[in-house]
Amino acid sequence: MVGSAIVRKLQDEGYTTIITRTSSELDLRNQAAVTDFFDQENPDYVFLAAAKVGGILANNTYRAEFLYDNLMIESNIIHSAYKTGVKKLLFLGSSCIYPKLAPQPLKEEYLLSGYLESTNEPYAIAKITGIKLCDAYRSQYGCNFISAMPTNLYGPNDNYNLQGSHVLPALIRKFHEAKVNDEPTVEVWGTGSPMREFLHADDLADACFFLMENYNDELFVNIGTGEDVTIREAAELIKDIVGFEGELRWNTEKPDGTPRKLMDVSRLHEMGWKHRTELRQGLEMTYQDFLANEVLYIE
Ligand SMILES: NC(=O)c1ccc[n+]([C@@H]2O[C@H](COP(=O)([O-])OP(=O)(O)OC[C@H]3O[C@@H](n4cnc5c(N)ncnc54)[C@H](OP(=O)(O)O)[C@@H]3O)[C@@H](O)[C@H]2O)c1
Repeated sequence: MVGSAIVRKLQDEGYTTIITRTSSELDLRNQAAVTDFFDQENPDYVFLAAAKVGGILANNTYRAEFLYDNLMIESNIIHSAYKTGVKKLLFLGSSCIYPKLAPQPLKEEYLLSGYLESTNEPYAIAKITGIKLCDAYRSQYGCNFISAMPTNLYGPNDNYNLQGSHVLPALIRKFHEAKVNDEPTVEVWGTGSPMREFLHADDLADACFFLMENYNDELFVNIGTGEDVTIREAAELIKDIVGFEGELRWNTEKPDGTPRKLMDVSRLHEMGWKHRTELRQGLEMTYQDFLANEVLYIE
């Protein structure tokens, strides 16, 4: 999702020499393959969007892969970027890096100030390591490697597989299928009370481009809207957009995750960047994209 949004942004800005690889062409966990790739392609600027990504179920089930894959991907790319003299690299982390009970909204300086949320701790540890790798290569070797922490994202090319998806694409698919099959209820995980912030992937790509052009410091930057909704509000919104007329059934046996994860985006706002897409508008666009690509998204 994010990689394709960044490519769209770069194309819109007129860039033509954009080098990408699918995971089947280049397994970024493979150190030798990554070294060869950087030696051959010699990129000037790197957007590190590749990662093992998933929702609460995948994060909690595949704990080993979420740690191993992400550590390998980051280490291989950041080290090769240093070795080949990449001019600038942007590493993408996640709001999961913050302690479970950190004060809200989450300021960048709260990193490592408390215990992490247990369901996504392996992923968070890997992402924190990515930040620290960028910082270490900057302080020891002077590399211009920056990090940004996006909030929860949604948009075109999201993952609609219910075993791996995040909350918004999961809800879009569930409500859509319930509507099409005329089902009376849709099950939603948890209590509905956790609060989450959501950013459209095209806005994230815009922010990444903005930081690549304007930001050159060590401290990582939060990327979000600075506004959040309850999961219940998000579910009701999607129900309305999809046009499902049945009931929501809250499965409180399932985990809620962190109670709240609202980013403090004042640093990014002070730099002059703000999101453009509001949640309702973004979800309407995303549902249209889902309808247009349903065959592709749901195998
Ligand atoms: N989605 C969110 O809500 C969210 C929120 C905060 C931060 N982020 C961060 O934003 C970045 C992009 O996330 P996304 O939502 O765009 O996830 P995504 O749609 O799952 O994209 C991740 C990409 O990484 C590739 N990849 C995974 N393992 C790889 C490997 N071993 N070798 C090569 N490529 C590999 C995947 O390729 P395949 O599909 O072929 O495996 C996929 O194209 C990640 O760093 C993520 O941590 C995402």
